[in-house]
Amino acid sequence: MSKKLFIKTWGCQMNVYDSARMADVLAPLGYRPVEEPEGADMVILNTCHIREKASEKVFSDLGRLRGLKDRKAAEGDGRMIVAVAGCVAQAEGEEILARMPHVDMVFGPQNYHTLPEMVARVTRAAGSVLNTDFPAESKFDFLPEEEGAQGVAAFLAVQEGCDKFCTFCVVPYTRGAEFSRPAAQVLAEARRMVAAGTAEITLLGQNVNAWHGDGPDGSSWGLGRLIRELAEIDGLARIRYTTSHPRDMDEDLIRAHAEVPQLMPYLHLPVQSGSDRILAAMNRKHTADDYRRVIDRLRAAKPDLALSGDFIVGFPGETDADFAETLRLVTDVGYAQAYTFKYSPRPGTPASVDGGQLSEEVKGARLEALQQLIAAQQIAFNQGFVGRTVPVLFDRRGKQDGQLLGRSPWMQSVYVQGNDRLFGRMVEVRIDAAYSNSLTGAVVTGEWTSGAPYTGSAPHSGNTHTGNQGIEVEALA
Ligand code: 5AD
Ligand code: SF4
Repeated sequence: MSKKLFIKTWGCQMNVYDSARMADVLAPLGYRPVEEPEGADMVILNTCHIREKASEKVFSDLGRLRGLKDRKAAEGDGRMIVAVAGCVAQAEGEEILARMPHVDMVFGPQNYHTLPEMVARVTRAAGSVLNTDFPAESKFDFLPEEEGAQGVAAFLAVQEGCDKFCTFCVVPYTRGAEFSRPAAQVLAEARRMVAAGTAEITLLGQNVNAWHGDGPDGSSWGLGRLIRELAEIDGLARIRYTTSHPRDMDEDLIRAHAEVPQLMPYLHLPVQSGSDRILAAMNRKHTADDYRRVIDRLRAAKPDLALSGDFIVGFPGETDADFAETLRLVTDVGYAQAYTFKYSPRPGTPASVDGGQLSEEVKGARLEALQQLIAAQQIAFNQGFVGRTVPVLFDRRGKQDGQLLGRSPWMQSVYVQGNDRLFGRMVEVRIDAAYSNSLTGAVVTGEWTSGAPYTGSAPHSGNTHTGNQGIEVEALA
């Protein structure tokens, strides 16, 4: 009998990935995803602990779910299993169970492969299950193969956890130690995804460029080598990876940006601050100039590389002069896009008990100044594309009728009016307008002649497929 499963996801792309895999694990038990929590047989909140706001929302959602659970029971419609997963579960599992008695299951990011067992336990008996140990085995060895097609552009988790211990960050505690999935496992999964229609794979990891593994010949591989091997998969048109740490940007990976055409010219490389004093207090183990040098090497390898970053303002002890250094770094680098955060003290992290915590007002003012600078860079970056023709992989349908949405190689969202037949394909688009978060354009017909080097093709190639050196060009019928 089919059961209704509702999953709500907060936080990073790794959580989005985990939620999809939880649905895969539960599918053999008869659970099918639904869009609303009302009446669901199981509700999973897959949570994020990175900043305070995200964790607080979990408790208010849990409060609301109690009403839905009671109503379902009162209507004689059976039990709603309420589960809390993810990083809040890992960090605050016992507190959740103590404060929220209607919660049936609490499990961390490394435990969801045991969902069938947990479900059996809670359905057999009253009471709740807490599962936040870091198991000796890797969940990746126990997860089922993905259910069906993963989509035109899909994520593939290759690395998890972090050993860097930045002093502001909960990830090393909630996700555990750095772990790389074996190369053979990653390549096999990528091949399955491409065979099922995926044309773009984003390799995921909290510290994805720390990925390392053994090749079939026993030699040691880094992420650059893994990307080269993935690029051999016929039909895999685009490869991306996120999130990276500046210290793990090794020479081979940088060279891969120059040498692997399928590796897209966009890199998310967080630096957090431009002040060496603050970087040291954050335990980043690199200076602002180290970061500038990495960017210089990347741009020497790939001149059109677009950069994105993460920045924290108002870290304990940050002075106006420190913040000015951050603005200077942003000005020097020039970002296509960046994420900015006010420092949020997280329980259990060293910086949360540092002296020199700053007021909300100071954090707010710095955030605004930084956001203004970045917004100006972002719009300037996008405006540079007006009049150019770029290859767009259409992976989503827009809200309006006949609207298709895809991404440029540089991660820009590109909207066009186009035939639905273009969905899932790589198409040339002439950009006619730029906005802060997107581009609009028109599908172009004809041969692909210039622009970013590009090989590979979308799957299900149409009749105008031009082979390895070209791009599939579609007529706007
Ligand atoms: N406060 C504010 N931002 C944080 N981040 C991580 N921890 C904190 C924190 N305690 C930001 C960092 C990181 C991104 C995922 O979230 O910029 O790169
Ligand atoms: Fe957190 Fe730093 Fe690890 Fe990134 S590198 S996950 S910010 S501890």
